[in-house]
Amino acid sequence: MTAYTRITVAPISGALGAEISGVSVADELDAETIGEIRAALLDHLVIFFRDQDLPVDRHKAFTRRFGDIFIHPNYQLGQEDKETVYLLRRPGDTSVAGENWHADTTMMETPPMGAILYALETPEFGGDTLFANQYRAYDALSDAMKAMLDGVQAAHSDIRIAGPQSGVNAKRSSQVRADADWRPTVNTHPVVQIHPESGRKGLFVNPIYTTHLDGMSDAESTPILDFLYRHQCRPEFTCRFRWKQGSIAFWDNRCTLHLAIHDNHDCVRHMQRTQIAG
Ligand code: SIN
Repeated sequence: MTAYTRITVAPISGALGAEISGVSVADELDAETIGEIRAALLDHLVIFFRDQDLPVDRHKAFTRRFGDIFIHPNYQLGQEDKETVYLLRRPGDTSVAGENWHADTTMMETPPMGAILYALETPEFGGDTLFANQYRAYDALSDAMKAMLDGVQAAHSDIRIAGPQSGVNAKRSSQVRADADWRPTVNTHPVVQIHPESGRKGLFVNPIYTTHLDGMSDAESTPILDFLYRHQCRPEFTCRFRWKQGSIAFWDNRCTLHLAIHDNHDCVRHMQRTQIAG
């Protein structure tokens, strides 16, 4: 673990996640501070900041310190700024974006390396986000299962969560592309990914985007994926973040999953998100 001198880092669970204090994310931060934030992300996989004031231009400037901004292919309908996604919940929504375990946008050939989510408006209670450590999920598999998964590729598609056939826009305030010209994006990734910075192995499948294991029949692929989906979010691999207005979550999309809990159906919850290209 890193010895921090610019920031204070306080883990929030034994599995992953740490709150960072002593920094104002909207400021022009020096290279040492950015280096420590990046180290904290690698050490803890998801990091949180509290009581931040982050106008969208400063949100994007902070994001660019970690890489290029990823443009989401299914959001920003009619919005001039293509670099920011707004995730909105309103009373009456029966579904919300990201309400099942997932890493973001894994149907892309190169999925984003991370995301920075800022809370503009939050409910008094509820609407927490869960995160799960996929290194731990991989490490906890038996040697026989690890050997079986070695070299297996999984197909990922956005067919369930965008496009006219998904039906999601009728259920929620955050709208995605659903026009007749929309086509699913499909790519394959290894089920076990080696993280490019840590060199550690982690599981890289998720029940929102993964559709099947390549080269296997559905009868073979479905039970294996069902097992992995149950296994990869076991409570001992997770942490839970309670939002307040001004909170930020910054996750490493290469080694974590997350899930947005839809437990308060009468609230407004408004989030501003950027993603960092992989
Ligand atoms: C997401 O899945 O990126 C959104 C998470 C959340 O709204 O808590």
